[in-house]
Amino acid sequence: MALWAGRFSKEIAEDVNAFNSSISFDCRMYRQDIKGSLAHSKMLYKQGIIDELAYKEIQQGLKEILKDIEEGKLLFDPNAEDIHMFIEAELTKKYPVSGKKLHTGRSRNDQVALDLRLYVHDEIKEVKELLHHLITTLTTIASKHTGTIMPGYTHMQRAQPITFAHHLMAYAEMFLRDMDRLNDIDERTNVSPLGCGALATTTYPLDRQFVAEELGMNDIMYNSLDGVSDRDYAIEFINALALIMMHMSRFSEEIILWCSWEFKFIDLDDAYATGSSIMPQKKNPDIAELVRGKSARVINSVSTLLTVMKGIPLAYNKDMQEDKETLFDALDQVKLCLPVFDEMLATMTVHKDKMREAAAKGFINATDCADYLTKKGMAFRDAYKITGKLVAYCIENNETLESLQLSEFKQFTDMFEGDVYNAISLETCVKNRAVVGGPSPEIEKTNIARVIKKAGAL
Ligand code: ARG
Repeated sequence: MALWAGRFSKEIAEDVNAFNSSISFDCRMYRQDIKGSLAHSKMLYKQGIIDELAYKEIQQGLKEILKDIEEGKLLFDPNAEDIHMFIEAELTKKYPVSGKKLHTGRSRNDQVALDLRLYVHDEIKEVKELLHHLITTLTTIASKHTGTIMPGYTHMQRAQPITFAHHLMAYAEMFLRDMDRLNDIDERTNVSPLGCGALATTTYPLDRQFVAEELGMNDIMYNSLDGVSDRDYAIEFINALALIMMHMSRFSEEIILWCSWEFKFIDLDDAYATGSSIMPQKKNPDIAELVRGKSARVINSVSTLLTVMKGIPLAYNKDMQEDKETLFDALDQVKLCLPVFDEMLATMTVHKDKMREAAAKGFINATDCADYLTKKGMAFRDAYKITGKLVAYCIENNETLESLQLSEFKQFTDMFEGDVYNAISLETCVKNRAVVGGPSPEIEKTNIARVIKKAGAL
């Protein structure tokens, strides 16, 4: 019979047990469950709620169980209802009298709420490390390409010259925000619900603050109904994961474009690409495509959990067991994607010449040409119009702005002088965009240093 089967006269039906059970997925929280029980039993003893022998045997038993699970000596029983029941039952097998005292003043409702918070707190650290590594990869590549000119795009049309470093660093900023966001979420996650009981605390004189401190948590939850039924932090966490995937997915889209023959800005390493079973010439960017594809399920997991939560009355309801599979899957996908995506970037070959070639076409220095005239005293709107006519002239005559003779420039306005060539050279265009946040190599170097420093501190 189940541990809770006091008023029951029949065993639970086999299929109902399987239907109800969550051990197949919540077993991954065994460490957090044991950690919580160690702190809880220590507090029970300190408060005089359990005796010394019970305290010692519970501590001893839980530590043995942890060791046995880690060493593969103790396997999870698929028939157990969940990880909480499994560990308590194992403890009771070891110490029949003391084991039964562990659950004093506690409910599975505050227990599971605690375990998932501890789990998310631990995982935030891991995801942040992966993000930090990815940012390091980006800053390392960017440092080599502060002078690598490429076209910057808007509407997927060549727009203004930038550098490859500037493009990569845009993503570094996104991943930096992702790290920052996880820190922020951790503040609200690392708070203890233990002691909230099933819904209304307990009559035992628990020291909740002590348990929170034992567990290294920031604070306790101050309303017991909220303590057992809040999953906001889990939704925030999945949302942060969805944003990470969204950022990686956008980046993937560019990687896919860049390694096409139409662009050829980069080539992926053979170890990070795949072939076709029929077309011998193919080298496909499967990693980037799969990251883009997987972003769908992570993004959708946000809506899954919001939908689970939106209609359930206070306090605990079994619906909430559904929080774990969706959260674990989102987390697994992110932890799967980040390192391969990172390695794919670290090993790619950058074709500077192709980027430069693309930058030379498309009149991406037209703004600079207009700015040249403006700096000579012409109103910007007039300069804009004259440059537009120049571009049309170039298109008609199959020229670029740089290839025009000075006499041709002068047909449009005699404000053009020989220094126009320097003003519209792509190197000048990039170098002169020296406003903070811009692509000038000097500004970029400062910014790379700033990102490296900030990522290290998050
Ligand atoms: N397996 C449950 C979950 O994941 C644990 C809490 C169950 N509590 C209860 N009273 N049935 O949510």
